[in-house]
Amino acid sequence: MDDQALLNLAIEVRKYAYCPYSNFPVGAALLCADGKVYTGVNVENVVNSLSICAERIALSKAISEGEHDFVKIAVICDAEHCQPCGACRQVLYEHAPDLEVLMGNPQGDFKRTTIRDLLPEAFSR
Ligand code: THU
Repeated sequence: MDDQALLNLAIEVRKYAYCPYSNFPVGAALLCADGKVYTGVNVENVVNSLSICAERIALSKAISEGEHDFVKIAVICDAEHCQPCGACRQVLYEHAPDLEVLMGNPQGDFKRTTIRDLLPEAFSR
């Protein structure tokens, strides 16, 4: 799947974000080595610390379906380039340090990087 198709899935799923507290919808689409894509959105909670980011939802969905080989994730939010938060970088690093990251916006612009570059000198096992 090419970059633009993955970005489009993240743009499309973003409408399902549950974000009544921040009003800041985020969409993510994670491409696995077998070609399957798992999407995610941010799911907030009145107890702030229980909110979950879009990237971690997508990753958890994939892992719970038996996936363990990840290629690329597209993340979309209303920013110049949607940058994954520190918690998501750490969680993604655990499973895919060389994961490609497409940091995009709803207009379709994006910047390419990797989790390794986003989390230098990471704590890992
Ligand atoms: N958010 C994500 O879903 N992913 C990130 O990497 C950054 C932040 C969500 C969390 C919260 O629901 C909203 O964006 C505002 O911080």
